[in-house]
Amino acid sequence: MLKMRYLYGVLLQILFLLHYVYCEDFNLFGEAGQAYALVVYIGHPPQKLHVLVDTGSTTLAIAAYARKDSNIYYHEGNSTTLYNSGKEVQAKYSQGTWSGQLASDFIQFPSLPSIPEVRSDLALITKSYKFFMNGSGWQGLLGLAYLPVAAWGENVVVGSWLDFLEKSVKKPMSFELKLCGTQSPVNATHYGKLTMFDDNNATEIRDFVYRTPILRKRWYEVGVLSIRLLNTTKSNNLTESLKGNKTSDFNLNTINIDNCRELNIEKSIVDSGTTSIRMPDAIFRQVVNELRNSAQVSNMLILDEFWYHGEAACWPEPQDWYLPSLAIDILSTEADNQYFTLEIPAQNFMRVITARNNTAATGTVSEFCYKLGLEAGGKETVLGYTAMEGLQVLFNRSAGWIGWKESSCGPNARVTGPFNTTKSLLYMCQLTEQLPDVNVSIKAAQWTLCAISIVAAAVLIYLLAPCIKMFFIRPLPRSQQISLSQAALVEQET
Ligand SMILES: *[C@@H]1O[C@H](CO)[C@@H](O)[C@H](O)[C@H]1NC(C)=O
Ligand SMILES: *[C@@H]1O[C@H](CO)[C@@H](O)[C@H](O)[C@H]1NC(C)=O
Ligand SMILES: *[C@@H]1O[C@H](CO)[C@@H](O)[C@H](O)[C@H]1NC(C)=O
Ligand SMILES: *[C@@H]1O[C@H](CO)[C@@H](O)[C@H](O)[C@H]1NC(C)=O
Ligand SMILES: *[C@@H]1O[C@H](CO)[C@@H](O)[C@H](O)[C@H]1NC(C)=O
Ligand SMILES: *[C@@H]1O[C@H](CO)[C@@H](O)[C@H](O)[C@H]1NC(C)=O
Ligand SMILES: *[C@@H]1O[C@H](CO)[C@@H](O)[C@H](O)[C@H]1NC(C)=O
Ligand SMILES: *[C@@H]1O[C@H](CO)[C@@H](O)[C@H](O)[C@H]1NC(C)=O
Ligand SMILES: *[C@@H]1O[C@H](CO)[C@@H](O)[C@H](O)[C@H]1NC(C)=O
Ligand SMILES: *[C@@H]1O[C@H](CO)[C@@H](O)[C@H](O)[C@H]1NC(C)=O
Repeated sequence: MLKMRYLYGVLLQILFLLHYVYCEDFNLFGEAGQAYALVVYIGHPPQKLHVLVDTGSTTLAIAAYARKDSNIYYHEGNSTTLYNSGKEVQAKYSQGTWSGQLASDFIQFPSLPSIPEVRSDLALITKSYKFFMNGSGWQGLLGLAYLPVAAWGENVVVGSWLDFLEKSVKKPMSFELKLCGTQSPVNATHYGKLTMFDDNNATEIRDFVYRTPILRKRWYEVGVLSIRLLNTTKSNNLTESLKGNKTSDFNLNTINIDNCRELNIEKSIVDSGTTSIRMPDAIFRQVVNELRNSAQVSNMLILDEFWYHGEAACWPEPQDWYLPSLAIDILSTEADNQYFTLEIPAQNFMRVITARNNTAATGTVSEFCYKLGLEAGGKETVLGYTAMEGLQVLFNRSAGWIGWKESSCGPNARVTGPFNTTKSLLYMCQLTEQLPDVNVSIKAAQWTLCAISIVAAAVLIYLLAPCIKMFFIRPLPRSQQISLSQAALVEQET
C-alpha cells in the first residue's frame, strides 16, 4: 500500500514536471553554459534556425557556411527572397569574432505569433573565430541592443531587426525576458520565455515598479551601485525589514563610494548573452572570499580552484546550497538618490553544468557538476543571465528603462526596495549622465562608431572548458566525512 502511494507520488511529480516543461509555453531554451536560444524562420521558403537572444549586441547574425562541427546553417541559395549586398561586415565580441556579408531577408519567429514577419537586415557569417561553440545548439545571434553597437563595415551598418519591426508596425516595441533556469535537478537544460510588447500593452507593464534608467542607448547600460553578499545570519529578518519603503541602513556611509565608482568606471550592462555576473577584480575577490568563508562555516569544503579559477566542482548527487544571496543594488528611475536591490540566491550563481543520474544500463557514474557564475572582469560590470533567472526583466527601449520583478518560475530571486540615500547617486558614483536619444540613422550610427571602441559586450560562452573532475569532501548527514574519488564511486556502484 505504502509502495503504491509512493509510486503514485512519483508519477504525479513526473506529470507535474512534464506539465511544467511542456505546457508552460517556453520559447527559449539552452544547454548548460550556453545562453537562451529562440527559433527563427528566415527567408522563403522559411529555413528554421536557432539564435541566441542577446541584449549585449544589436545584429541578427546567422551562420551561412558549414562548420567543422555543424552542418546546420542558412543556405543562401535556397531563399528566393534573399538580397545579399555583398558588402563585408564584421563584429568582435569579448570572446570570438566573425565576418560576413550584409544581406536582407524575411524574418519571423514562430513562437511570437503577434509579431509580423518583416524584411530585416541580417549578417551572413562566412568566417568566424572562436564564435560558435562545438556542438552548440544555435547557429546565430539575435542582437536586441541599440544601433550604435551593431555590426558594421566600410560605410555600412547592419540595421537591427527590432528597428525594422518598429518601422513596420509603426510603434515602439519592448520585450521581456523571463528566464527560469533548469526545471529538474537531473537535467541541466534551461528554459525561458521571450515576450514582445507594444506600448498599448502598458497594463501588463504597470507591475514593474522597480525600474532602472538606461544611462546610454548603446548596450543596455545601467547604474550598478554595489555588488555584495546579504548577511545570512539575519537574512530572514533582514528581508522582512527590507520589504518596506523605509530608508535603508545601507546608506551612503555603507555604499562604498570607491566600489560604486569602480563598478561603472567603463560601463555596467545587462547582457542576456553572457552567463556570469562579471565585476571588477577587487569586488570579485571581496565577494568570493566571503562566499568561501561562508561555505567553510557550513562545513562545505570546496577547493579554491572552484572559487577563483572557474573550475567545475562535481558531486555524486545534486546539491542544495546554504550560502548567502548576492545583492545587486541598482539606480532607480524615480530619483537619482533612490535605488533598489536584486537578491540573487546561491542557486543562480552556483550553476549546474552537468546533471547526470546513473543509469544501471550504461554503468555511468552519477555526476552533478557546478561552476561559479561570478567572474572577475577587469573594468566592466556585466549582469549576465545569472542575474536574471527567477526574475522577469522588461526592456523598454523607447522610454529608456529596464523593469524588474519577481517571476513565477525559476530560482527564488527577489527585488526589494526602494531605498533612499542622502545624496545623488549619479553624482557620487560618477554615473554617466543620461544622453539624449541616439538618432537612429546610419549616419549617426557611423559617427558614434568612430567615437567608441567596438569591442562589443561579452557575448555568450562560459566555456565548459576542461571540466576538471573533482569530487570534494562533502559533509554527510550525521556521519563522518569521507573522501570520494572517481574510483571510489565506481566501486560503490558495483
Ligand atoms: C536547399 O536546396 C537543396 C536543393 O534544392 C536541398 O537539397 C536542400 O535540402 C535545401 N536545404 C535547405 C536547408 O532547405
Ligand atoms: C567537438 O565535438 C565532437 C563531437 O561531439 C568531438 O568529437 C570533438 O572532440 C569536439 N571537439 C572539441 C575541440 O571539443
Ligand atoms: C533534458 O530534457 C530535455 C527535454 O525534456 C531533453 O530534450 C534533453 O535530452 C534532456 N537532457 C538530458 C541530458 O537528459
Ligand atoms: C497585448 O497583450 C495581449 C495579452 O497578453 C496579447 O494577446 C496581445 O497580442 C498583445 N498585443 C501586442 C500588440 O503585443
Ligand atoms: C515604456 O515606457 C513608457 C513610459 O514609461 C510607457 O508609456 C510605455 O507603456 C512603456 N511600454 C511598455 C511596453 O512597457
Ligand atoms: C552580519 O551580521 C552580524 C550580526 O548582526 C554582524 O556581527 C556581522 O558583522 C555582519 N556581517 C557583515 C558582513 O555585515
Ligand atoms: C526574527 O525576528 C523575530 C521577532 O522579531 C524573532 O523572534 C526571530 O528570532 C528573528 N529571526 C532571526 C533569524 O533572527
Ligand atoms: C525617497 O526619495 C524620494 C525622492 O526623493 C521621495 O519622494 C521619498 O519620499 C523618499 N522616501 C523616503 C522614505 O525617504
Ligand atoms: C511607506 O510609504 C507609505 C505610503 O506610500 C507611507 O505612508 C509610509 O509612511 C512609508 N513608510 C516609511 C517607513 O517611510
Ligand atoms: C537517480 O536515479 C535513481 C534510480 O535510477 C533514483 O533512485 C534517484 O532518486 C535519482 N536521483 C535523482 C537526484 O533524481
